[in-house]
Amino acid sequence: MRKPLIAGNWKMNKTISEAVQVVKDLKNAVDGVTDVEILICPPFTALCAVNNIVKDSNINLGAQDLFWETKGAFTGEISPSMIKDAGCSYVLIGHSERRQYFGETDETVNKKIKAAFLAGLTPVVCIGETLKERENNVTFKVIEKQFKCGLTGIPPEYASLAVVAYEPVWAIGTGKTATPDQAQEVHSFIRKIYGKIYKAAAEKLRILYGGSVNPGNVSELMKKSDIDGGLVGGASLDAETFAKLVKYSK
Ligand code: PGA
Repeated sequence: MRKPLIAGNWKMNKTISEAVQVVKDLKNAVDGVTDVEILICPPFTALCAVNNIVKDSNINLGAQDLFWETKGAFTGEISPSMIKDAGCSYVLIGHSERRQYFGETDETVNKKIKAAFLAGLTPVVCIGETLKERENNVTFKVIEKQFKCGLTGIPPEYASLAVVAYEPVWAIGTGKTATPDQAQEVHSFIRKIYGKIYKAAAEKLRILYGGSVNPGNVSELMKKSDIDGGLVGGASLDAETFAKLVKYSK
């Protein structure tokens, strides 16, 4: 059985004091939840302060990106061990906003995934098609390419530890969610291609859906057999709303 994972991606939101307040409220609101794994990914500047609050709780901490080198002259970048040192166990990699605005490619995603594993971090690998790609009927081709290039050379012992987030770009921050059937179709395709490379590990792979997930649509999405959780942007910024997502009705 795959344990559901509900992850919050705060993106470029919240000062340290705002982050601390939200996470204190969230910690109270999700106290005692054990059947769902909870993850929040604040901006880098708030990681340490948030870690001080969540470190002995049921809330896991993740970063939103990393750089693959271990240290050195890379102004503005953050290494995997720095992220680990700040208290993170997870890291988002290849979010569509990074691909769209910051030149992230399947090749850089691959380097980052490898670096995350080497540092003992679990990568949440984000993939998804644009609206144009969906309209041109190339969704599966795009997903397969992003997925295979991203995971090239990842040893099988790491494979089952990865988390994949399917986030159709047209559904992110737009209020347009993929229907549960649309999402399930892509999730089962991802599990199939993963299984061709990594065999049995595919059954352990958690595949999250992301794109306008909210307390009103989470339960229907989670009923689908290959949807193992959500990567939530906007609805993760408010403690009460995010707690509702974590406690979705099963
Ligand atoms: P959204 O963002 O929930 O605001 O659509 C999801 C994401 O980008 O991870």
